[in-house]
Amino acid sequence: MRTAVLVSGGGTNLQALIDAQSRGELGSAEIVCVISSKPGAFALERAAKANIPTAVVDRSTFAGSEDFDKAILEQLKHFDAELVVLAGFMRILGDTVLSQFPRRIINVHPSLIPSFCGDGFYGLRVHKAALDYGVKVTGATVFYVNEITDGGEIIVQKAVDVVEGDTPETLQRRVMEQAEWIILPQAVKLIAEKNDKL
Ligand code: GAR
Repeated sequence: MRTAVLVSGGGTNLQALIDAQSRGELGSAEIVCVISSKPGAFALERAAKANIPTAVVDRSTFAGSEDFDKAILEQLKHFDAELVVLAGFMRILGDTVLSQFPRRIINVHPSLIPSFCGDGFYGLRVHKAALDYGVKVTGATVFYVNEITDGGEIIVQKAVDVVEGDTPETLQRRVMEQAEWIILPQAVKLIAEKNDKL
């Protein structure tokens, strides 16, 4: 299953996918390209190191989100992608892309949806909100992307304890290590296995 990974930043989730693939843990999924919405994202270096083709679709060079979506779709078609994985992709995709990949776009979010999700909840903000609320358990969720921000069908979730004295940074790291980097490759494998049976 030809898999495109969309990124905007550090790319630790991309790295987890690359590592899982090299251990043979992605089933029939194969990462065929990494597309970044930001030039200079460290994720691009991770991809290059793993010999994965990259493309940059710089959001700041597009007047509107429609044109940006069209450029993303062009890249996905160019690489003949069958599955799209958002891995720290900090942009909301519109119908131009979504309509072409029904139940074929997944995202990882660093909380147990439906807590601390939706518009404005991304990256460290999610962990800050969880700490401000005072939850004792948080986690991560992988879900199908639809037109509702963080509102699509859930595929995998994993809980992670909040620890006394946590900062958004320490909590983010624990959620990545104990949940995101595990469940994102798992979800990709699950979808690839389902696809094999079609
Ligand atoms: C991850 O924690 C991911 O769950 C989050 O951004 C981080 C990206 O890290 N995504 C969101 O908040 C999406 N709403 P990475 O670039 O190292 O994978």
